[in-house]
Amino acid sequence: MAKLWGGRFRKPTDKRVDDFNSSIRFDKRMYKQDIRGSIAHATMLGRQGIIPQADADAIVAGLKEIMSDIDAGRVEFLIDAEDIHMNIEKLLTDRIGDAGKRLHTGRSRNDQVALDIRMYLMDEIAEIEEMLIETMDTFVELAKQHTDTIMPGYTHLQKAQPITFAHHCMAYYEMFRRDFSRLAECRQRTNVMPLGSGALAGTTYPLDREFVAKMLGFDGVTMNSLDGVSDRDFVIELAGCLSLVMMHASRFSEELILWSSNEFGFVEMDDAYSTGSSIMPQKKNPDVAELIRGKTGRVYGSLIGLLTVMKGTPLAYNKDMQEDKEQIFDSVDTVKLCLPVFCDMIRTMKVNKSAMRKGANGGFTNATDAADYLVKKGLPFRDAHAVIGNMVFYCIEHDKAITDLTMDELRSFSALIEEDIYEAVSMETCVNDRAVIGGPAKAMTEKAIKKAEAYLNSIEK
Ligand code: ARG
Repeated sequence: MAKLWGGRFRKPTDKRVDDFNSSIRFDKRMYKQDIRGSIAHATMLGRQGIIPQADADAIVAGLKEIMSDIDAGRVEFLIDAEDIHMNIEKLLTDRIGDAGKRLHTGRSRNDQVALDIRMYLMDEIAEIEEMLIETMDTFVELAKQHTDTIMPGYTHLQKAQPITFAHHCMAYYEMFRRDFSRLAECRQRTNVMPLGSGALAGTTYPLDREFVAKMLGFDGVTMNSLDGVSDRDFVIELAGCLSLVMMHASRFSEELILWSSNEFGFVEMDDAYSTGSSIMPQKKNPDVAELIRGKTGRVYGSLIGLLTVMKGTPLAYNKDMQEDKEQIFDSVDTVKLCLPVFCDMIRTMKVNKSAMRKGANGGFTNATDAADYLVKKGLPFRDAHAVIGNMVFYCIEHDKAITDLTMDELRSFSALIEEDIYEAVSMETCVNDRAVIGGPAKAMTEKAIKKAEAYLNSIEK
């Protein structure tokens, strides 16, 4: 096949180079954006009198036909037409002749690909935002059912202080809420229209860039032609946003993997979200959670890959930048694959309240509260810390919890201790007295849930 840029060449491209250079295999997924962009560009060329109106009309009609043919699977793309941009231009010219050859007036593939990838990613971001809303919803719904479900909170994976499962769920709500707003900001920076940057130095034709931007639904146009074709910040930024989404999903997945172990028993994955072993009949493995944790690695990989592709590229466009697509597509695909399963896995799992409660009772999660009890009776905190430290040591030696100790035992550590200590260090008191803003007390959690519901209502479309 003759190349669209073949005039300057006297030899055909080596077959291997055609394969090597070609990106159609992966950039064909941007065909809709490419065609929408070309329709806007041609419409503008006609309006500005840069090409005859009849040609602009023929181009638009031809492109619409090509769009429905691709939609219907009736088009076969050609490796030696290199990429989606030239494949479509060639299809158009084959169909409508000379008018098709006018489409690329005042445009370069460099600004064309920058346009396509921006449009494509904006569409994907919108879909992922929807999935994040569902994810936030999932955690809020779960939290609503568990404002009384006391569980141990951990630091260093050592039991620390009692919280509720609702509080734990709302921590994830906060993470995904940040992810949501980060993505919205990333979408804003993606939402600028680069056509008119040309190959690198703009164009001599009187293009109406604002018109094209408006027709394509962009908020504005890029402000420097060199930057317009060589900026991939938005791709990297998205890869970063998606890495954080996966990090959050992965941290909860890790917790579910731990919690569904026999040692914890805090949750049980639904049969439909677990798998068995080909040899060990008793096994029920949390594969879904493990795969989400594992797939986080490939999303991080794309982020580092993209940063590395861009780090040494001089201005403006370089072919290196073709390497952005497979990586960001893979990140987007992976997140879109993971989030819905992640939500379903969470919605269907069984929460074992009594195992959580038992977990909270052990491990002296109320030791801080015991110290605080003495502080309220007048002891300085540092002294109270020491007294309760000794008490815990005694309890470990006698295999008892603080609340198992008799009044006599308790008073042997401090004469300040009275009957009311039992109530003061009960799990319910420990949780519900933590009523600062952002604390685990039931009343505070209920407020947090209300606020979250109001937020979700405000962003749901
Ligand atoms: N397939 C190319 C890419 O993805 C399109 C731009 C090619 N431009 C060029 N001057 N070779 O980056």
